[in-house]
Amino acid sequence: MDLDGVDPKRIPRHVACVMDGNGRWATKQGLPRTEGHRAGEEALFDASCGALDLGLEYLTVYAFSTENWRRPPAEVRFLLNVIADQLLTRRRDELHQMGVKIRFIGRRDWRVPRWVVKRMDEAARLTENNRALTLTVAFNYGGRAEIVDAVKAIASSGLAPSKIDERTIRRHLYAPDVPDPDLVIRTSGEFRVSNFLLWELAYSELVFTDVLWPDFRREHLFDAVREFQARDRRYGKTGSRHDDGIPS
Ligand code: IPE
Ligand code: IPE
Ligand code: MG
Repeated sequence: MDLDGVDPKRIPRHVACVMDGNGRWATKQGLPRTEGHRAGEEALFDASCGALDLGLEYLTVYAFSTENWRRPPAEVRFLLNVIADQLLTRRRDELHQMGVKIRFIGRRDWRVPRWVVKRMDEAARLTENNRALTLTVAFNYGGRAEIVDAVKAIASSGLAPSKIDERTIRRHLYAPDVPDPDLVIRTSGEFRVSNFLLWELAYSELVFTDVLWPDFRREHLFDAVREFQARDRRYGKTGSRHDDGIPS
């Protein structure tokens, strides 16, 4: 596989995507917005193949936000169907054969129809022992909701406030074992985070592209990884050899 100049020694462990622009993609072609969601599923599959080509450990995708319930009911229903019928049923076995572990982050018990939760559980159970790639679907996900849920869990655990630190909060997030994303990609030319992974993306590199999500293919993922590899991640340090260990 030609990885287009990507340095195989500096592959990010975890890439996260805000899959945006489905509606505009459809409107541009005179189609109803829902056709964009259908086409977006194909893009997600190709991006997952690209993640396997690269050897990523984790790919996290924003599929439905806690705010997306505000859309017209017919569009919400269609989105739930695309996720549950296309991704979690039609694609599930293909992803399973490719060694992809499917998991979910979000509020699964809030507003989500029971039949969708059932499909989510089935896909997660079927693929739970796979090791090639973990595909985390952020579904009914909100970054603020995740932090609220963590705070509630910590408060009800009875832990003394003086014992709470950043590790305590991390342990109560939806996927505490998953490392923070190294790279977050947002498609469709929008420059915002839209309540995605607020805690986790504190030090992620952000790459924005004008490509509308249904047109996104693995080559665009490789482009974003190349851009990531050209960045200098400093984590608050100066980047010089004097960093670390020298008291200021
Ligand atoms: C992303 O595409 C899919 C979801 C948010 C669920 P949009 O539906 O937001 O498409 P645009 O941004 O309106 O073009
Ligand atoms: C973010 O896209 C949510 C998902 C991709 C699931 P939106 O289209 O909902 O975000 P805004 O409304 O443009 O910020
Ligand atoms: Mg959008």
